[in-house]
Amino acid sequence: MTLSIKSEADIEKTLGQVIYIAGTQWGDEGKGKLVDILSGHFDIVARSAGGANAGHTICVNENGESKKYVFHLLPSGILREGKMSIIGNGTVIHIPTLLEEITQLKEQGIDVRGKLLLSDKAHLLLEYHKVIDGIQEERKKGKKVGTTLRGIGPAYTDKVSRIGLRIADLLDFEHFAEKLRRNAERHMKAYGFEFDIEGEINYYKDAVEVIEGYVANTADYIHNAYREGKSILIEGAQGSQLDIDHGTYPFVTSSNTTTGGACTGLGFPPNKIENVVGIMKAYTTRVGAGPFPTELGGMEGEMLRDQGGEFGATTGRPRRCGWLDLVVAKNAIEINGITSINLTKLDVLTGMQSIKIGTSYTLDNEEIKTIPTSLTDFEAVTVNYIEMEGWTEDISKTKSFSDLPKAAQEYVKKIEELLETPVNFIGVGVHRDDMIYR
Ligand code: GDP
Ligand code: IMO
Ligand code: MG
Repeated sequence: MTLSIKSEADIEKTLGQVIYIAGTQWGDEGKGKLVDILSGHFDIVARSAGGANAGHTICVNENGESKKYVFHLLPSGILREGKMSIIGNGTVIHIPTLLEEITQLKEQGIDVRGKLLLSDKAHLLLEYHKVIDGIQEERKKGKKVGTTLRGIGPAYTDKVSRIGLRIADLLDFEHFAEKLRRNAERHMKAYGFEFDIEGEINYYKDAVEVIEGYVANTADYIHNAYREGKSILIEGAQGSQLDIDHGTYPFVTSSNTTTGGACTGLGFPPNKIENVVGIMKAYTTRVGAGPFPTELGGMEGEMLRDQGGEFGATTGRPRRCGWLDLVVAKNAIEINGITSINLTKLDVLTGMQSIKIGTSYTLDNEEIKTIPTSLTDFEAVTVNYIEMEGWTEDISKTKSFSDLPKAAQEYVKKIEELLETPVNFIGVGVHRDDMIYR
């Protein structure tokens, strides 16, 4: 355990020139908040995967007023002046959602012109992808994934089927329209739905004028910036257990949410990423279906949901809640190469009489410390817990680790010890300032 970050001032010299922020659970760990804080110390903030299925919340105190922003496609560094935000090639971009976010920000006095770039290689998420997402979910009946219905799976499916439309295609509009027509007809036939193809084409005819100004070869941009010594923060979306390869397949999203995905999603090599900060909620939540061994039913689950405000930032769905699961955490550390942890929402555990941490599973009377690949097995495991003392003191204004109640300190130290990874950031509230550095 080497890293130590005593204050915000230590961030630059400690974390290095390029870092990745990874979700370690099932998403919504609080990535947006740390990215917003760190973006003050980095030159470039880049999204590398996913799309508007993400919902990253940032709360800022401005002139005594609390302002909340939720970003789905825009990187969470966009609030800062003098920083470049990049939406990389590994993402799937729904242009109407992006333009809506840009307009909303403008209404709040923030202009993104000159500080946003879209990769010309990123794929477009079109309206019919959303329709298909809905149909696929309906067809699954009792086995729904519980997607965000934002069209993510179908857009990535077109990408790997090599029929997808990219941002660059917009710049050759005649061909774009032709391909869109062909794809839409093919999908309408396969899934049996009606779709206003010409309406969609006309929308893009207008939108292209606005979009054009943001388009770039972002991989080139990043490499040039890197050579000039600029620092880069890569903002993960979703979480490790939603990764298409490493998550609880098929209850996952359709992209690589882990560090490998950050590299391909930007065209940036792994050996230049100096640190990976894992964002880990002090307990666990999940939206959508799929296994969740430490899930709590009853009062305790409800208490976490109420105190933590656990409702999806994208769909508003109530999040399933449960104890922290270190088998899941260990897996995230290994797959992402996590060197530092931001434990978030520790304040939410205040008032719990005792707090449990899942440390291993039992499957067929045998203790296991890894996640079974078979979903049937994963659903059949029982969790082995250690139990820690709770605390009742309000910690939301606490600024230093030593001022936390002893029991809260013990909880953090236990996690650190079991994961052999330093907890350098501890979230104690929703705002930028509500962070303990250590
Ligand atoms: P993301 O998708 O990982 O960026 O996370 P979301 O924004 O979807 O969900 C995290 C929620 O927790 C948001 O409402 C944040 O404002 C909130 N949050 C983040 N960190 C903390 C914290 O330390 N304490 C509390 N109470 N809330 C937090
Ligand atoms: P952030 O970045 C939480 C979940 C959905 C569903 C599964 C597949 O805010 O952490 P999809 O629409 O991607 O095909 O849905 O993945 N999911 C998320 N859950 N946070 C997210 O993003 C998520 N993005 C997708 O709920 O279970
Ligand atoms: Mg979220």
